[in-house]
Order: sequence, then C-alpha cells, then structure tokens
Amino acid sequence: MADAKDVTVIIDGIKVQVPDGTYVWDACRKIGVEIPNFCYLPGLRAFGACRMCVVEVSGRKGFELVTSCSTPATDGMEVRTINDRIWQQRNMIMEALDTDHPIDCPICEANGDCRLQDYGYEYGVTGVDNRRPKIVRPAERLSPAVDIDRDRCVVCGRCVRECDEVVGAVALAFVERGVESLIDAPFGKSLLETPCTSCGMCVEVCPVGALSSRINLTLEHHWWQRKTETTCTYCSVGCTIKLGSYRNQIYEVRTDDMLGLNDGVTCVKGRFAMDFVNSNSRLSRPLVRRDGQLVPATWDEALDLVAERLAANKDATGVLASPKLTNEENYLLQKVARVGLGTNNIDYDGRAGEAASLEVLGEMLGYPAQTNNLIDTRQKSGCIITIGDSIYETHPVYSYQLQRMTRLLDKKVVVISPRWVKMCEWATLWLAPKPGTEELLVHAMARVIADAELQDANYLNGRTEGSKAYLESLVNDTFSLEEASRQTGVPANDIVAAAYLYATGGQSTGPEKLPEPTHPSDLPTSRNGSKEKADAAEKAVLSGQQIQRPEGGFPPSTIVFPLSGTYTISRQTVAALTNMALLTGNIGRAGAGVNPLVSDSNCLGANDMGCMPGYFPGYRPVTADNAREMEALWGADEDHEISGAPGLDMAAMIAAAEQGQLKAMWVVGSNPALSLDAPDSQRTLESLKKLDFLVVQDIFMNETAAIADVVLPASSYAEKEGTYTNTERRVQRVRQSIQPVGVSKPDHHIIAEIGKRLGVPVPAVQPKEVLEEIARVVPLYGGVSFARLDMTEFVDDSIPMPAAVSYKQLKVKSLMWPCTGRLDSGTPVLYKDTFATASGKAQMMAATAMKAQPETTAPDGALMATLGFPLFPFRTGTLSRHSFGLNRVEPDPRLHINSRDAARLGINDQAPVQVTIDGVGDADPVYAVSLIYDRVPEGQAFLAITLEQSGLNSAIRTARHMLSTDGRKSVPIRVQPAPHMSRRPASELQPAATGNVLDIKVQPL
Ligand code: SF4
Ligand code: SF4
Ligand code: SF4
Ligand code: FES
Repeated sequence: MADAKDVTVIIDGIKVQVPDGTYVWDACRKIGVEIPNFCYLPGLRAFGACRMCVVEVSGRKGFELVTSCSTPATDGMEVRTINDRIWQQRNMIMEALDTDHPIDCPICEANGDCRLQDYGYEYGVTGVDNRRPKIVRPAERLSPAVDIDRDRCVVCGRCVRECDEVVGAVALAFVERGVESLIDAPFGKSLLETPCTSCGMCVEVCPVGALSSRINLTLEHHWWQRKTETTCTYCSVGCTIKLGSYRNQIYEVRTDDMLGLNDGVTCVKGRFAMDFVNSNSRLSRPLVRRDGQLVPATWDEALDLVAERLAANKDATGVLASPKLTNEENYLLQKVARVGLGTNNIDYDGRAGEAASLEVLGEMLGYPAQTNNLIDTRQKSGCIITIGDSIYETHPVYSYQLQRMTRLLDKKVVVISPRWVKMCEWATLWLAPKPGTEELLVHAMARVIADAELQDANYLNGRTEGSKAYLESLVNDTFSLEEASRQTGVPANDIVAAAYLYATGGQSTGPEKLPEPTHPSDLPTSRNGSKEKADAAEKAVLSGQQIQRPEGGFPPSTIVFPLSGTYTISRQTVAALTNMALLTGNIGRAGAGVNPLVSDSNCLGANDMGCMPGYFPGYRPVTADNAREMEALWGADEDHEISGAPGLDMAAMIAAAEQGQLKAMWVVGSNPALSLDAPDSQRTLESLKKLDFLVVQDIFMNETAAIADVVLPASSYAEKEGTYTNTERRVQRVRQSIQPVGVSKPDHHIIAEIGKRLGVPVPAVQPKEVLEEIARVVPLYGGVSFARLDMTEFVDDSIPMPAAVSYKQLKVKSLMWPCTGRLDSGTPVLYKDTFATASGKAQMMAATAMKAQPETTAPDGALMATLGFPLFPFRTGTLSRHSFGLNRVEPDPRLHINSRDAARLGINDQAPVQVTIDGVGDADPVYAVSLIYDRVPEGQAFLAITLEQSGLNSAIRTARHMLSTDGRKSVPIRVQPAPHMSRRPASELQPAATGNVLDIKVQPL
C-alpha cells in the first residue's frame, strides 16, 4: 500500500524494493521471477498448504527453506529462488502429489493449462512407482455451471478462498479430513442450495483440472483458441475479459489475475453468457418485406431501400441507438440522424429511467456522471453508503470488490435499502426505510451532521453556492429525528449513527455505540423508532458530544447507487445525497464522491456521444447556436441543416407514431416492443405498425424486428472493434475476436453506408478513424485514441493482509474522461479544484418538506412488494435470452416473505406460490418459490424475478414500468399457494403479449 514504508530485499543477487511486509513470492514476481505455486493467489490470504513455492531466505542460522507465499519480506533479507536443495524439495512435493493423481491428461479439460502438468515437466516427475491405492471418486456435477473431478484435486483451497474472500458467496468448503479431505458445498448441501452465484471464479482459479465448467466445455484444446482481450458487454462495470475463439466460435471466457480494473474477476454474465454470439438464431442476412413476408435480400438492395425511405421521411423519422453499441457506432448514428435526416429524434431504450438522476448531478456539479472511480473507492473510502437496488445483483464485480476491501480494511458500510440485500452481510449498519422515503432519510442524516457541526465549513464557503439556503431548509420539522424516524420507520439512533459514520469517514458512530452484529439478521435496525429513542438521540447530538474534525479532515466517504435494477432512487434523493456529500466536503477527493452506476456496458458512452434528444455529443444542449457549431464541425453542407430544437425521446416517438405524426423509425440494437419505457407491448407494436417505414438493425430477430419493413443483420460485439465507456467514465477497448457471422456486418459499417447514401460526410468506416473524429468534436474525449487505449497502465492495488502485504499491480488499459489532449492522462477524480458549473462552484439545492408516501400502506389483504432481479436477466433479454449458459444456471423466481405473513396466507417455505399484482389489469400471474425469513418486514415482500419474467411477463413489465415512471417504489401484490410452478423452460419461451412473433418464416432467395 502506498502508506507502507519500503524495504530492500536481495533476490538471486538483485536488489528489489517493496512495501514492508510484502510476501517474498510477490517480491520475486515484481522482478519477473515466477515461483511455482498451487495454493497462493495474490490477494487471497496465504494458506501455505502446498509448499511448492519453497525458497531459501537468509536467517540467523544461514539460509532456511520457507514458503515464499506466506513469508513477509524484511529489510536486507536475501532470497535464493532456485538451487539443488530447492529443486529437490519441489521434486518431492510433485512426487507426493503424483502419488494419487490420475494421469488422465488427454481427457482433462485443463490439459495444456495445468500447473501439475507444467511443474511435473519442469521438476522431472512423470508418474511414480509407489502409487497409493486410489480413493476413487466419480466426477460430479456441483451445479449447472460447475463440475468437479475430485481425483484431480490437489487440495490447494484456492476455490474455497476465492469464493469466500473475493466473491463473498462462501458456497464451497473443505469437507472430511486428512487424505479424505475434499471440496464440496458445506453441510452436505448441493451447490444450488448455497449462495453460489455461478460466477465460475472457482473454476478460473483452480490450478488443475479438478473444477471445470459444463457451460464452457470446449472440447477444443486451450492452446488452439485465440485469446482476445476485450470488455464485457453486459453491465457498466466494464470488466476486462479474454474471449477464447476457435473456428469463428466463442468457446470460453477467461481472465487473468490482476487484469483490468476487475482484477481478473467476472460475474456469471461475463463468464457464461457470451455464448449468445454462437447462437443458431443469429440473423445472418438482410431481410426486406415483400408481399407481407420478410425475405432475404442483398446488402445493396436493403441499404438502398433504407436510405431511400428514410430520406423520404427526413425529420419525421425517429432513431433509436443502443447502450450495446460502441461509442463509435452511437456517434455515427446520431450524426447520420442529425445531419442526414435533420432530426434530433434520437434516444435509446432505458435512458429515461436513468436520465433524471444523472441530470441532477449535472445541474449541481457540472457533469451528469460519476464523480469518482472504483479503485479509489475500494482503497481509500472510510465509509461507503450503498442505496437503492442491490449492487450484488446489478453490478456484481463492483460489489465483490467493495465487500472484499470492506472485510480486509475494516471499512464501514451503511446499506440503505427497504429489503435485506447481500451487502447487508458486510455492513456496519443497515437502514431499512419504508420504500420511497429515502430522500427524507438523507435530509434527516444531513440535519444530524449540521447539528453536530460535522460539516466542512471551509468547503461549503469556498466551493459551493446555496449552502445557506440549504442549511436553513433542513431546519424544518419534517427533518427532525422524531418525524423522520416516524415517517421512514428507521430508528432515530440508526439515523444518527449513519450520519456520523458518513460525516467522519467511518471513524465514529456518534454518541451511541452500535452493538456488534453477530449475524446478518442481527444488524442494528428495526422498525420501532420510538419517540423516547428519538429524543435521546437528538439530545445526545445536541449536547456537545461532538467529534472534533481532525486537521486535514476525516477520511473520505462515498455514496454508490445503481440506476439499473428495479428499485432505483428518485432524482430528489440523488440531489439530497449530493447535498450531503457537499456538506461534508466529500466531492473532489479520492475515495469520496457521488457514484451512480448506470446499467448497460455503454449507457454512459451513448450519453457522451449525444444519443439524447436534447444534447449533441459532449453534452452540448441542442440550441440553434450549438446546431450551427455542429454543422461547422461536421462539415455539413447547406442541404443538411441541423435542427436546433429538442427531439422526441423514445416514449414520445412511439406516441407520435400512434398519432401518425412520426412516419419512420430506425431501431438499432433495441427492442421497443419489450421496453420498460413503453410498457404496453401490444400498443407499442400497434403504434409501430402505423409507421410508413420501420427498419430494425440487430443481431437477433425480436418482437420489433418481426414487424419491420427491413431487418439488417448486425455483428455482435465480439465481431468488431471500438470502445465502451463504463460507469466510471472509463473508456476501454472492444476488440474483434471472430469474423462477422454469416454476411452480418458491424453496426458502424451499416450506419456509415446508410449515412453515405444520405449525403452525410462520414469518416472512413474504420472505428479507429471514427474515434479520431470524436476526439476532435467532443472535448471530453480530446485525448482518447486506440493507440493510447492499447497501452497498459500499472495501477497499485496492493492489499494489506493480516501481518503482511499482498503486492498487486493491476494492468489497466483505459482513459477516464475528461481527457482533453494527448498529454492529459485522464480524470479519475472529478472536481478536485473546481466544479464544471458556470461559476465553478457546486450548486446546492434547498430541501423541500415532504409527506410520507401514500403507497407504503398496502390495501387490504395485499403485501407491498419491491421487485428485483436475481443476477441473471438483462434488460429486454435480447442477448441473455439467447445464452444457453445463463438459462441453464438461472434459478427459479423467488418470493421473499415474512413468516407472519406466510402463516396468515397459508404459505409454506420453499413452496410454489401464485402472485398477482394489483393495477396491471388481467395480466398473467407470476409463479415463484416462497422463501420465508424475517429480514423482510411484515406486510412487505420482495419478488426476485427471472429472465423469462423480466422481459416477457406482461404483469411484471407493467409493474416495473409503474415503478420506474411514477415514483412509486413498491407495488401491491396478492399471494396464494400454487399447486405447482408453471415455469416453462427458456427454450420454449414465447412473448406473452405479442404472440409467437419470433417464429417468422423466411423465404429462400
Ligand atoms: S461459481 Fe462462484 S459463487 Fe459458485 S462456488 Fe464457484 S466461486 Fe463460489
Ligand atoms: S478443486 Fe481445484 S482449486 Fe479447489 S482445492 Fe482442488 S485443486 Fe484447489
Ligand atoms: S460485473 Fe458487469 S461487466 Fe463485469 S463481468 Fe459481470 S456483467 Fe460483465
Ligand atoms: S503456494 Fe506457497 S504454500 Fe502453496
């Protein structure tokens, strides 16, 4: 870590400086000396089990043999990494391992990628004479994702520790003892009954062929596969992954330790959901509608027709971009819309749900984006508030890293969520406000901070505007502890503790010491906020039991909240959080900040590139002046005037189509028929049918494409070059792994071809050149180029372990915007000196008094349910529905319910239930499996929905739309026992509201 002092170690005669306490193994690796190892993995606690990493170090009695992975380096220590004695030791260990290891390499999944094989060769062990009678155990399926062949296990414990320490799942354990010791799910359970997330990290770290994945089963040797380093296409964490391809198919996803900001870690989607690329259902040729049928056409026929029909409709056209497209593609698309069609009718599916929260950040601070970055957050934040949906599900690897550093560095985590979420397991405090009362809760916390004089007065005076009005607005009865506690249901002393933890960077919980939690369900929280408690807490705060602000301030605190998922916080809550961050000086510092997590891999990039009806690229508002400026930048001639009037967003486009005002649509990489922004599928489809012309460009046939006039087969992200911008503002490369499938073409190629036909000056169609144009047009990207994004930056991510330091250097290839020129190394932390507002100061917003949300009271006989994803589905499911891997590991939908409600309704644990949702008309019921536990408050429920339901169940979709648009946070549901689950296998899924539109017949040429 940066704070540890350095020591000098002499390794094989070479001096190397490392932080005091660094393991000898890590110090060796720093100078490129790889010591053989089975059980060590940088960042995991030293285990010292295999002894393969033995080296000699200087000691009082001369050179002694030690395990390098668990011996901390000390100043002046001399290390010998190889000599006869060491070789003999390692040879002995290999012989011992070989004694009962089957030599079945030719049929082993790890053949060619196995440490036992490598070290056997290196240390001359190719089978031993005195083989021990084998304890033969048949290979087994641990879960739909993970297989185990225990005969091959070297009992290194990497899988168990990775699952516990890195993923936080604790789904694996050693069972039995001694030579009988083996890996299994604990307590005789199946892995499916544990918190296993099917992330596959246990398989990734297994050094031999003991763990493998049926999903990634290649039947192709690893060394045949070409490995392409790229960025995951699912959520916005932006994990670096390596796609293994052979014969133009993607076979597996692998990672490398310390690769990318994700440190070689992925979730289930990154690991197992990339097989959609190989799906037989891929669109592979252009289709045009003739005599009511979609029939194959040549590319030229299709492109000419599209250009002709779009040109005929010009600004009566709506264009939908996609957060799955690269920056280069989205940039080109909006340019063709604006220059070629003269319209600002450009949007993408899913933006509406996130826009308000991002916009308020823009208004208050300058940029509608995250202020800080993940690496600083996990290394430097003293206190982390997570609020909204469960980041363990929405942004899995982000949460894996937070939980890991929280446990190692004793960070303080405050979870604000009406329901128990996985992060509660590591939280110091869980506040469970009634759904929809988060804004009030945050204002009450801010008032505690102000009353206790924990605010940063210098920061407020020097760097903000509107602080006086804001502080005055907090002095309102609504925000008193008593009233806030009554309305939110959060005990007053929990509000006080959360406020202190945040304001002091995790240094203090305030006047009252929190009880130590012994179990997640014992976390300090309850719904019994009483007046006595509130009074006592308020008195304590006001009675001068104050913490002194240390010189240099408290450690930084940060706030993290997903904008995806089904339980997002409101714009007003984001404003309240930003105010609280400004109040405590927690913006503009490493490890601090306000950090919204957008949903898709390239949502932020789509915003940056101007796929919004109100903004040109780089967040220039659409005004006449800016329109003229863009014309000049884009070299548009007089026939291509750019509009200075805001365009239509997606919902408005569909409404305009319904009214006959919009005549054409060009839909790229999205499926509005299943969009949450337009929940009534049938009505959306009827509206789209009224268009004179509809062209859909996608990799699969979908419900919208099925009614289109032209369908253009696009290539997947694995078949093209480009960049994505992750939720942190980090621009990263997407690299081509395989050739385009069939005659499909990358979106940038298709868009450029249509643009050219519309007379738009498009740069050469290579993404590299498009990015060069982006750098000229968008100042935030001024210094971003492919060449710079292909350069590796080494980022220190050393981890202090108990009594030692695990030395880690992440290999990251990225630039964080603003990156305005070639000499600019990017901006990991925004607003260090000034805000990007007109005055250079942050704009605080006064709090407005509010009333309790009426929706928090359930109608008679109903429960108020929040909805949430498990890990698996993604948006409308266009990709994830076509992933065999994801469908295979996805569990049943779950209804989490309190035991008293369950008893009242006659529901048994783990039993099928039928759920109907009030207010969604006569939509299908939802079937789920009950999960009874009392972390769910009485009267409430949590419905964990599935891939099938998220996109295709009309009740769920309508309910999700209600939640995302009218400010409500929960819906009334009615639950009754069901005789059985009526869930169909994913392969048989049909869209509920649209009929069997996927089963279209294509005529041969
Ligand atoms: S798949 Fe992931 S969560 Fe499941 S056992 Fe392996 S490491 Fe643990
Ligand atoms: S299954 Fe693999 S990772 Fe786990 S203990 Fe055995 S060899 Fe090690
Ligand atoms: S966390 Fe997000 S970016 Fe990372 S592997 Fe999972 S889905 Fe992909
Ligand atoms: S790697 Fe050091 S004991 Fe196993």
